[in-house]
Amino acid sequence: MKIIEAHGARIPSIGLGTYTLEGQTCVDMVARAIEAGYRHIDTARMYGNETEVGEGIRRSGIDRSELFVTTKIWWTDITEPLLVPTARKAVEALGIGPVDLLLIHWPNHEVALEESIDALNEAAEQGLTRHIGVANFTSAMVDEASAMSSRPLVCNQVEYHPFLSQEDVLAACRRNEMAMIAYSPIGQGGEVLGHPVVREAAEHHGKSPAQIVLRWEIEQDMVGAIPRTSNPQRLRENLEIFDFALTEAEHAAITDLTRRRARLVDPSFAPHWDRA
Ligand SMILES: NC(=O)c1ccc[n+]([C@@H]2O[C@H](COP(=O)([O-])OP(=O)(O)OC[C@H]3O[C@@H](n4cnc5c(N)ncnc54)[C@H](OP(=O)(O)O)[C@@H]3O)[C@@H](O)[C@H]2O)c1
Repeated sequence: MKIIEAHGARIPSIGLGTYTLEGQTCVDMVARAIEAGYRHIDTARMYGNETEVGEGIRRSGIDRSELFVTTKIWWTDITEPLLVPTARKAVEALGIGPVDLLLIHWPNHEVALEESIDALNEAAEQGLTRHIGVANFTSAMVDEASAMSSRPLVCNQVEYHPFLSQEDVLAACRRNEMAMIAYSPIGQGGEVLGHPVVREAAEHHGKSPAQIVLRWEIEQDMVGAIPRTSNPQRLRENLEIFDFALTEAEHAAITDLTRRRARLVDPSFAPHWDRA
């Protein structure tokens, strides 16, 4: 497993995304994922499944120190009075001690960036998380937030797959020594997996289209990915990407597809995105 190192955080490059995993399915998938070798689990307050994620972790019996667990604070709760108490609720729901990484889930243009970044630092100060970071931040916001944060921001979690270039955001992450963690990394299981460039590489390596796409992501410096699945077989499949490498031509051909700029996640409260 490739580990991404960012300001002292050691982030396993593949994690399990848990959005929409609920109830017993969530508990089972988290426990199975850890048994299969996952060491990075991604949840959020908004997913409403932190209790089940925590239960799955405890059921797996893994030593807490071997896992990297991320949760996120929803954009309505990133004010100075709300962020720390909300983070405390997240930690209580998970029941596994402090999280490894606490993220601002989305920026909020009605809250000053400095206010939410200060509150995020305060959550770390109070021992609720080991590291702090952001999600859905543009390149300008990454630079601004990094410059004002007293603790280093270790990650920006953004949508990234072969149909969406994140050239500008990735450059900003790299200049601030931050990881860029790809969400919807297999394009939500849609059209990207059927593209001939991805299919040809899959045939060449005897791998699935999802494995090709995830491999393309983790081959990039500072990039990780958090695919979600509710299917135990795919759980293993999405992790079995460390035993082959794309050729330079295959890697470049997939990168070429990112010019399509097809964003899947674009809610009304999203920031004014980068061009790329
Ligand atoms: N920060 C944010 O704002 C944000 C936004 C969106 C998502 N996220 C995070 O990122 C995670 C992943 O993103 P996502 O759920 O949007 O999309 P995704 O991981 O790209 O795709 C998930 C979809 O792909 C299918 N799938 C999984 N593995 C597959 C495989 N090997 N072959 C074919 N299909 C496969 C899944 O179906 P099955 O379940 O049937 O396998 C599911 O329908 C989320 O769970 C969440 O943790 C964060």
